[in-house]
Amino acid sequence: MKSTVSVIKADIGSLAGHHVVHPDTMAAANRVLAEGKRQGIILDYYITNVGDDLELIMSHTRGELDNKVHEMAWNAFKEATKVSRELGLYAAGQDLLSDSFSGNLKGMGPGIAELEIEERPSEPIAIFMADKTEPGAFNLPLYKMFADPFNTAGLVIDPTMNEGFKFEVLDVYEGQSVILNSPEEIYALLGLIGTPARYVIRRVYRKADNMIGSVTSIERLNLIAGKYVGKDDPVLIVRLQHGFPALGEALEAFSFPYLVPGWMRGSHYGPIMPVSQRDAKATRFDGPPRLIGLGFNVKNGKLTGPSDLFDDPAFDETRRTASIITDYMRRHGPFMPHRLEPTEMEYTTLPTLIEKLKPRFKKEEDVAKAKPSIYTGKDQGMD
Ligand code: 13P
Ligand code: 13P
Ligand code: MG
Ligand code: MG
Ligand code: MG
Ligand code: MG
Repeated sequence: MKSTVSVIKADIGSLAGHHVVHPDTMAAANRVLAEGKRQGIILDYYITNVGDDLELIMSHTRGELDNKVHEMAWNAFKEATKVSRELGLYAAGQDLLSDSFSGNLKGMGPGIAELEIEERPSEPIAIFMADKTEPGAFNLPLYKMFADPFNTAGLVIDPTMNEGFKFEVLDVYEGQSVILNSPEEIYALLGLIGTPARYVIRRVYRKADNMIGSVTSIERLNLIAGKYVGKDDPVLIVRLQHGFPALGEALEAFSFPYLVPGWMRGSHYGPIMPVSQRDAKATRFDGPPRLIGLGFNVKNGKLTGPSDLFDDPAFDETRRTASIITDYMRRHGPFMPHRLEPTEMEYTTLPTLIEKLKPRFKKEEDVAKAKPSIYTGKDQGMD
């Protein structure tokens, strides 16, 4: 049977800063989705959060970008925002960038990853959800899962994976995509996806039969809004087993706490820390960037699960390393490469401050001549 898994998420406001979703706002979203399930719009759903991002995981048979499913998700975010406002939560309705819903949620702020699949007899999937980072943050683990035999043994051992995978890479600035084949074109692929702020792996397909293996949300809020309005905090759905990465191969890709952009004020590089649902909140310096993973089986459009995938001592060392990297990066304070590069800071309020200094910039020789006196301590001709 053909079914669709839709993961749609938005930051609708958070308790005590950008750190965690309030349960009452989740309850409000739950009421909308329960009603949608009763009406048959969706067959099943699960609501969760990572940090300040409210995550709606839904299954149905209506395909991708469905008007009814998207409208219901929008209403869930609206209802949750109402509660956020009543409670005076911080940044209520933060990611709802548009006021009126027209057809689907594309370009309206919420992040969207949808996977329409012909269900296999057993259809295991993993859903990864991150806070305090952006969609390109999944480039590295996706490469490891689907292209790196040092991560994924199945690429070497399993005849159904042996041909490799196709990567659909989106240039988020130009709105254009390219499909690159692995393993033949991995150097070209890495040439693009090593710039994750611009090139994002949108989908991965199995080469042998073009079956879809993963989909990532690609919404970049600053490109939609034209200014910094928080980070995108992306989601990723991965199909597992039987010709796709085994669950453990998908998880292995997150055993290294690599650096991602985001964290405090969306302006700093920090290590991604895979955590259990219990620890899915952004605390130290609004982070470090957090990742949760939930495992499900999809059967006849229903979701069995979840299993909280990083709730496991096997990831304790990853988290410990992430904490050490957190200390190391933090000691750079406002210096690059902890702080993001100027192109990525364009959308923040930093350019306004630099603009204010502009009139005070003079020719180097003039400033040198007019240097403050070392004897009087007074400025000589300097404002
Ligand atoms: P099982 O024999 O437990 O199914 O394991 C198969 C497998 O692929 C493990 O990665
Ligand atoms: P969010 O995108 O998670 O709201 O992050 C905003 C921020 O500035 C955190 O410091
Ligand atoms: Mg927020
Ligand atoms: Mg967030
Ligand atoms: Mg955000
Ligand atoms: Mg088995």
